[in-house]
Amino acid sequence: MSIQVKSTTAFDDQKPGTSGLRKKVAVIKTPNYLENFIQAVFNSLKAAGESLEGNSLVIGGDGRYYNKTATQTLLKMAAAQGISKVFVGQNGILSTPAASAVIRQHQTLGGFILSASHNPGGIDGDFGIKFNIANGGPAPEKITDAIYQAACAIETYPISDAADIDLSKQGSYQLENMQVEVIDPVQIYADLMESVFDFALIREFCQQHFNILFDAMHAVTGPYAEEIFVNRLGLSTDCLLNCTPSEDFAGGHPDPNLTYAKTLVERLYAEDAPDFGAASDGDGDRNMILGKGCFVNPSDSLAILTANATCIPGYKNGLVGVARSMPTSSAVDVVAKALNIPCYETPTGWKFFGNLLDAGKVSFCGEESFGTGSDHVREKDGLWAVLAWLNILAVKKISVAEILHAHWQQFGRHFYTRHDYEGINSQGAADLLAHINAQLDSLAGQVFAGRTVSFADNFSYTDPIDGSLSQGQGLRIGFDDGARMIVRLSGTGTDGATLRLYLESYSQDPKMLTADAQQGLSDLIALSEQLLQIKAFTERDAPSVIT
Ligand code: G1P
Ligand code: ZN
Repeated sequence: MSIQVKSTTAFDDQKPGTSGLRKKVAVIKTPNYLENFIQAVFNSLKAAGESLEGNSLVIGGDGRYYNKTATQTLLKMAAAQGISKVFVGQNGILSTPAASAVIRQHQTLGGFILSASHNPGGIDGDFGIKFNIANGGPAPEKITDAIYQAACAIETYPISDAADIDLSKQGSYQLENMQVEVIDPVQIYADLMESVFDFALIREFCQQHFNILFDAMHAVTGPYAEEIFVNRLGLSTDCLLNCTPSEDFAGGHPDPNLTYAKTLVERLYAEDAPDFGAASDGDGDRNMILGKGCFVNPSDSLAILTANATCIPGYKNGLVGVARSMPTSSAVDVVAKALNIPCYETPTGWKFFGNLLDAGKVSFCGEESFGTGSDHVREKDGLWAVLAWLNILAVKKISVAEILHAHWQQFGRHFYTRHDYEGINSQGAADLLAHINAQLDSLAGQVFAGRTVSFADNFSYTDPIDGSLSQGQGLRIGFDDGARMIVRLSGTGTDGATLRLYLESYSQDPKMLTADAQQGLSDLIALSEQLLQIKAFTERDAPSVIT
């Protein structure tokens, strides 16, 4: 039976335009808080003319603390709406790209993904929930705005008072009039990977002479990696690191970068390093690629995958186009130009790629923040990127360092770094942006240390498919030699404000091919200090994370 609960939680702290909730667990546990978001999604779907009765949904998450409780709440609220069928991953588990694949495969109305991505988990950590639409991708801004409006207006919500469903076993269960299909969280995804990549070739390459190490960071991709690398590719379990998922990611920060995936990085830089290393994040959509003693920055990764895409069976006929987020380096632009395919520049966030992918305008997309993906799903996909790299290396029979250097030799090198100032004072961050904004108009034409500013603006984007305009997407200063300096505030942090500074410069000097990125960018780093004064405004001596 469904009962009506009076919603007492004021829902005024979630900015419109964000794809879902991402909060401290304690906030999520506030009575009615989570329920209010879920009901807001249902109400906004109904307001948009969707019928919930008789329709189906997908539910799954990254397994962090509160995943199971939230899954039961979702099921009971979906039943109270008359949803006829829900596909839920066993134990409430689905990586974000797997959830996208399941939504697409079963053609559901959409799905709820329970995750705070790369943010730490556990009782004192973060939890999150977002709604993905029927294409399998994050809800676009017009829908997230509608969810926010609906959330502000909620007074009551219906929820079933039935007992919890046992999610530990696969099978079909009944909750009120709703069928609950508890599915294998891995199979649909692993089958999809097998349909895109040449597993036989990767198997032979890795078994014969190429040692790999995959770090799941105690997060959701552990079981996916085991199925793909061990069961399907026949590799030894020695290639798996931290592949037992834990509710608090074993106390770690499940973000695959040089700072947080320290164990993996140390292994790849050791004397007896494997040939290839990779990691993914909390919910499995991010990736980091390493070679023996070398790191591939995500912008270069996108460019290299684009340049070599036809090595992969799923893309053997070539790519229709590519897209990158604005702060991502222009390395892929140079490749797209050489391939004579379009390259789109979108604001930060995967949701901006959805329309381009749906319209068949792009095949690959990527972000500097360790996000890479393709039109096979509508989310970025960590294991997809790992397999794409392995497939290309297996065809070319070369090492990561070799392909990287050959790429730079052919296309030139885009030095790139991102400096994050995490958990800074929100007012200081706002003052800094205002300070830079005020200078923007006067910068064009000015010369700094031999570089002339060619443009300075606050990035705005008009979606080429639906014409929607997104403004205020990051402050950009571009120079005549292709160098760029970008500043924006994170939209995903939960602790104060996080400021991101992105720096890029282009070099075709063969002597620079082996230089360290920070070294290659040292003049631009110094110029950013002079122009932006980040240290003074943030009261920090140094960034907390340098990538
Ligand atoms: C960060 C990344 C962005 C990515 C998002 C979700 O957002 O910078 O590229 O799409 O996480 O993974 P930010 O915290 O910068 O708003
Ligand atoms: Zn993620």
